[in-house]
Amino acid sequence: MMTFKNILAATVVAAFALPGIAKADGTVEVLHWWTSGGEAKAVGELKKAFEADGGKWVDSPIAGGGGDAAMTALRARVVSGNPPTAVQLKGPGIQEWAAQGALNDVQGVADKEHWDDVLPPVLANIMKYDGKYVAAPVNIHRVDWFWANPQVLAKVGVTEMPTTWDEFNTIADKLKAAGITPLAHGGQPWQDATLFEDVVLGVGGADFFRKALVELDQDALTSDTMIKSFDQLRKLRGYVDDNFSGRDWNLATAMVMRGDAGFQIMGDWAKGEFLAAGKVPGKDFVCAATPGKGFVLNSDSFTFFKVSGADKIEGQKVLASLIMSPSFQETFNLAKGSIPARTDVSLDKFDDCAKKSREDLLTAIKNDTLVPSMAHEMAVSRSVRGEFLDLVTTFFNSDMSSQDAVKDLAAAIQRAQQ
Ligand code: GAL
Repeated sequence: MMTFKNILAATVVAAFALPGIAKADGTVEVLHWWTSGGEAKAVGELKKAFEADGGKWVDSPIAGGGGDAAMTALRARVVSGNPPTAVQLKGPGIQEWAAQGALNDVQGVADKEHWDDVLPPVLANIMKYDGKYVAAPVNIHRVDWFWANPQVLAKVGVTEMPTTWDEFNTIADKLKAAGITPLAHGGQPWQDATLFEDVVLGVGGADFFRKALVELDQDALTSDTMIKSFDQLRKLRGYVDDNFSGRDWNLATAMVMRGDAGFQIMGDWAKGEFLAAGKVPGKDFVCAATPGKGFVLNSDSFTFFKVSGADKIEGQKVLASLIMSPSFQETFNLAKGSIPARTDVSLDKFDDCAKKSREDLLTAIKNDTLVPSMAHEMAVSRSVRGEFLDLVTTFFNSDMSSQDAVKDLAAAIQRAQQ
């Protein structure tokens, strides 16, 4: 791994050779949206490791699950000519900023450390622009998970996690009849979209998901399968409590922890939340993939904006190298709820949910059932994603029919592509 020591040595030599060049001290200002209990713990590990290497970390957290507020803040910073050194960014967003010439590449670090050999190709491609790495991935998050409180399920005689949406509905009806909120949910557009995409995977399968939510095929968007997906989303709406509007996702996780609700449907950052609260997997909470036999991929990565100052540019290289180091990938992901982006990091210290995640990931890659998350910015441009979020949220908060939802959605997506 590249450390500050060898970078500093090289810089000191250069500083003597070229009068006027400041000594590098490796500074990064990091813009991210990791502010919940589990998230803050995980990003704290990155800060700690960077500082242990001698770097200076300037923290710029922008609260707001899913990162929509952070992306707005990022645009404002770039427009004002003052981008942060490192930014949590994903999927097509990486490509969009790279295409605008806003990013530095870290190909030198990637070559030296053979990133191509240790990342799944599907992920490596997302990190590259024009054949060069412009982002370093910290993790692989899975979006299609049920999280449940087994003590709550036991109250209605349920000991097995559902494997189909019908089974889920049956359990949810039992919980509701017993006066227990079946589904802890936060009514924010990205959370509604998270439910929606998990439902689409379960109702239509991975090929359908890809056609509708990635390729934006009009036939798929207006199909009976999409109507059925909205029907299931309507069912889920009936399982949330009255106060769901605007609730943050981690507060929904807390409802499951406390036994105030049976389930949450959320990516495995929810596991980071359970763990940060000292909850034990398999005992205090259980996980199961939502139906569909696929894997909805979400990966967090850091990009490096074009900034001036040798110390900042060196900070970027050190951060990229640190992020991809095996020991950091282990520590970070143990806290974050995700699994390492590197496939060569052992999961010995991880729980069964993480082990299932890697096993299912490899199966999904083999069977071509791995799909990128629309809700979490891995699949489509921000403008197209915005249309999905608007429509899904409108549907969730009204009595719009599934037929109308499908018609409006297809039209909105078509407009966004023009
Ligand atoms: C996701 C992100 C995760 C998680 C979540 C909630 O988009 O990839 O790392 O933190 O948002 O904030």
